[in-house]
Formats: sequence, C-alpha cells, structure tokens
Amino acid sequence: MSEPLDLAGQTAPVDLAGQAASVDLAEEARRLDAADALAALRERFVLDDVTYLDGNSLGALPAHVPARVDDVVRRQWGELRIRSWEESGWWTAPERIGDRIAPLVGAAAGQIVVGDSTSVNVFKALVAAVRMAREDGEAGEHGEAGEAGEAGGGSGPIRDEILVDATTFPTDGYIAESAARMTGCALRPVTPAEVPGALGDRTAAVLLNHVDYRTGRLHDLPALTRAVHASGAYAVWDLCHSAGALPVGLDEHGVDLAVGCTYKYLNGGPGSPAYLYVRRDLQPRFDSPLPGWNSHAEPFGMRSAYAPASGAVRGRVGTPDILSLLALEAALDVWDEDGVSVAAVRAKSLALTDFFLRCVGAYVPPGRVESVTPAAHAERGSQVALRCDDAGEVMKRLIEGGVVGDFRAPDVLRFGFTPLYVGFADVERAARVLARTLG
Ligand SMILES: Cc1ncc(COP(=O)(O)O)c(C=O)c1O
Repeated sequence: MSEPLDLAGQTAPVDLAGQAASVDLAEEARRLDAADALAALRERFVLDDVTYLDGNSLGALPAHVPARVDDVVRRQWGELRIRSWEESGWWTAPERIGDRIAPLVGAAAGQIVVGDSTSVNVFKALVAAVRMAREDGEAGEHGEAGEAGEAGGGSGPIRDEILVDATTFPTDGYIAESAARMTGCALRPVTPAEVPGALGDRTAAVLLNHVDYRTGRLHDLPALTRAVHASGAYAVWDLCHSAGALPVGLDEHGVDLAVGCTYKYLNGGPGSPAYLYVRRDLQPRFDSPLPGWNSHAEPFGMRSAYAPASGAVRGRVGTPDILSLLALEAALDVWDEDGVSVAAVRAKSLALTDFFLRCVGAYVPPGRVESVTPAAHAERGSQVALRCDDAGEVMKRLIEGGVVGDFRAPDVLRFGFTPLYVGFADVERAARVLARTLG
C-alpha cells in the first residue's frame, strides 16, 4: 500500500503507509462540506446518524418516494384499478422510465427499456449479440470494423466464442455460461486488460463490467468498445456500478448493448427493475431470446405467431412490475428536479474517495489494510475497497459502530460513496471508526 494519493489536486500527495496527516481532517471535512454544491441534496433522503457507505449495494430511500408509492397503491391500484394501465401510464412505464435513465448513461431517448433483473437482461443482451454476430457472418456483410457504432460485419469463420470478464460479478459469468451453451459458443473468461489480445474473428460478443464490483476499478469503456468493434464483435456492458456515479457515454462511444441495475446509485429501492439499452440502429436486428407478449408488435392482438415490436420495446418480456417500477420513477425525480449533473456527481465522487483514502492513510495503523482500488482517477469508480485479513469480522464491528459498508469474500471491505447523500464528514468519521476498529 504505497501508492501516493492525491486529494483532487488540493494537497500534496500523502503516503497511505505514512504518519497521520498534520492537517485537521475533521476541520477540512467541514470546509469541504460547506463548499459542496451537492450538499443540500442529502435532505432529500431518509438518513440517520449511521454513516451509510453502502449505496453501491442498496441506495438510500428518497424522502418523497413513500408518498408516491402510497398514491400508486391506494389511488392508481385501489381506486382506478385496471384503468390505470392507460390512465396512470402503467403500460408505457418501461419505456418512459428508460428515457429518464437515458441521460444519466449518455443515451438519447428511445433506446432503454426498464424491466426484469440485471441477470435477465444480461441474458437477453448476450444472446441477442451472438445472434447479430452470426447474422453478420451468414450475410457476409462487411461493416466498417473499428469505427464506434459500426460493430459487426465480416464473413469468414463462424463467430462462436463469447469473451466474459473473468473478474465479473458472478451472475454475469453464470448467465454467460448458459448463453454460450445455448448458442453453441465457447465461453472464454479473460480479464478486461486481456480482452484486446483475446479478440479474434471467432469472437461473437464480449461481456464486460464498467466498474469492478469488488475492487472499484473503472474499465476503459471507450477503448475496449473500439477494440471489440475492430474485431467485428459486439460489446455488452454491465453498468451496475457506474450508472448514477460517473459518466458512461453509451451513444458517444458506440456501445452496442448495455444493462444495469437501478437499486444502487439510482436509489430505486430493493429489487427495483433493471434496464436494457439497445443502440438505435441495432434495434431492428435485436432478436430477443425471451420474446414475451409485451414485446409483440401488437400485444393485444393475441396472435399465436410472434412479431416483434419496433424500438427498445423489443427488450420487454412480460407484465411489468408496476409497484417497483413506479417507486423507481419517483426516485429519479431527485436528478431532474434538482438539476443534478452527472459531471458534478463524478467530481464529488472522486473528491470523496480521495479524501477517504487520505483519512485512512492518516488514521489507520500502517500495513493493517491495503487499498485494492486504483489511485488513478481514470481507473476509479465510486467505491473504495480495502483488503484486510479479518475483513468479515471488521465489517461486523464497523456496522456496530455506526459505519455501514459491506464485506466481500474473502477479504475485502467495500465502501461506496454516493455523492447525492454522502458528505466529507461521513468520510472522515468512517475512516476514524475504521481505525479504532482495526486498532
Ligand atoms: C455488476 C453486477 N451485475 C449484476 C448484478 C446482479 O443484478 P440482479 O440481481 O439485478 O440480477 C449485480 C448485483 O449487485 C452487480 O453488482
């Protein structure tokens, strides 16, 4: 743990293994909070004295959501009953809420549909990607490989390999294994750094995580997407740990397909539905492996033959989970009503994680923990992961001490920093309690 850490250019680098910083970090936290343009947003959330650094697992409850859910349950369901599918906009909620998420991940409207879990959307996206790659091969098309937004193309050997991030959150790996078996592909786990070297003319699709759930490492989405396209394959990105925490730029970087959850940095609530992005020009070719009636061109035609709807609606499957969906819709108001920019959130996120690393360096006995989160801003998501031999026991005691992060087996303490409601005083306190716990 010897990488020098820089606090957003405000101070000289501090060695994590070094002595306590001479500055009064608690006082510095007060100054940083006073200067924080996003500080007032904290009032929009239901929080207490607990220092909550687990928004990368489950985001906090926005204070206005219970009243909205109450209205959905009592009036929309209780009074309007079935009329609400039309009158309360239930039927179109998956696309409407997709359009609310779109600006947060750098997508124009009409490309995101909300529903199902991330796991299910990984399945849809990956199988659809392989099907498009196969189609390219069969048609002998020659796309302009290498250009963003121009995936696919190229005749020659059949594309029968899926690359999956070897460090992925397990569900993506499990689903990819099944998708590979179903599509007759070989599954090859590689680290994101190994992807460029592993790509070839047999690669059909690559499933990657934007931010590593364990280490908090941010992967280079633009460069990796370009590399995938240069090989004629399709890129599927899992945005669970980046959406709502940092700029993603789906359209700008020509990402083909993407999925993500809404219960972390988007604060949609436990089990809130996930989303699926299908780039506009790929939508006519998106062949869902789960073609439920909600994605039919004429869902109420009750036809025995399936005909896909046009647009992102193709990603729908069955009846949407309206209560969760509308709780999520309400939660997204925080972004719109307060005019919060993703750029401002990212700047604060980096300042928070920098400050945390600095406080840990100052307070925690040398050698007791080791940061596995990259020091470089370009490689860091919105969490800090500290390796610690007795991490499970330490996190238990931290939670008893009023600091909530989480433990990831076998030895990682994870701390998530949600800029909408985490302040610098929280950060300083968390590091202080951590040091006491470890001491
Ligand atoms: C990166 C990543 N992908 C997928 C998932 C699982 O999502 P779901 O439970 O919505 O299927 C998670 C859950 O935390 C995750 O962190």
